[in-house]
Amino acid sequence: MEWNEGTCYLNGKWMPLADASISVLDRGFIFGDGVYEVIPVDTVDGIRAPFHAWPHYARLQRSLDAVRISNPCSLEQWLDLTAELIDRHPWPRQLIYVQVTRGVAKRDHPFPTGVTPTVFMNSTPWPQIPAEQIENGVSAVTHADERWLHCDIKSISLLGNVLMKQYAMDHGASETVMLRDGFLTEGSSTNTMLVKDGVVIAPRKTVQILPGITYDAVFDIARKHGIATERRPVTEAELRAADEVWLSSSGREVLAITRLDGATVGNGRPGPVYKQVQAWMQQAKREDALAWKAERGGRTLAA
Ligand code: PDD
Repeated sequence: MEWNEGTCYLNGKWMPLADASISVLDRGFIFGDGVYEVIPVDTVDGIRAPFHAWPHYARLQRSLDAVRISNPCSLEQWLDLTAELIDRHPWPRQLIYVQVTRGVAKRDHPFPTGVTPTVFMNSTPWPQIPAEQIENGVSAVTHADERWLHCDIKSISLLGNVLMKQYAMDHGASETVMLRDGFLTEGSSTNTMLVKDGVVIAPRKTVQILPGITYDAVFDIARKHGIATERRPVTEAELRAADEVWLSSSGREVLAITRLDGATVGNGRPGPVYKQVQAWMQQAKREDALAWKAERGGRTLAA
């Protein structure tokens, strides 16, 4: 099955992705007035399961609250929809996309009344993370963070992020790491963290960054294995002098950034702490898959 041949969920109905359509007056289309989630699904030890589904839906709730859209589904309903969406596709690795917009209304800035949110979910195949990237790391460039000050909301208004990702592409890099007033924020679609003297350090979760589910997973893993962690402001100088720099996201897991603005990070190879955390992450996925199976076993498809 090709990526565009799947089934999607739109406003209460399942349908071929190719047949799904929404009004041109949807506020998501007109204003970017909506929020979203991306949840990775992998098959580990024969169990196909989303990674950290619960925290993703907790973050969706926070995003919805922040923009005052009432949550159209309960957590159980979201989990049922997620399980069914996964089951409807053959791919062992999937990326589940969930979007909620304020709905369809006459174009006018204030919130409309009596409008039903638009709910859209689909799945796409999630290619393996290239072994070459895990082994050698990736390159990144830096840029001033020119986005708004609600980056903690997972808003579909992603133009600032799109421009920053394209900046990376235009410079032959894999990601753009952003700096605001001399301090590290995050990547265009990833969180950024670093290692100095064995300590994993990342910016605190403020309005300046998305509170990444993978970022939390990395910190949990590091702490569990006795690696010191710090969440605090990170200066540009610290970023450039780090022993290791990493990016993290649902789609890329954890990757080492081995070149930053053309300069070598550390010794130019993924570092020892990265290698440990990358391996522990696979173990965490295994544990998470077992938890999903235990919780959801036998009732993956909604009746
Ligand atoms: N992006 N920061 C930004 C700006 C992001 O867009 C993302 C995720 C992250 C990492 O968050 P998480 O670990 O929860 O995936 C950080 C998603 C994958 C996307 O937009 O496709």
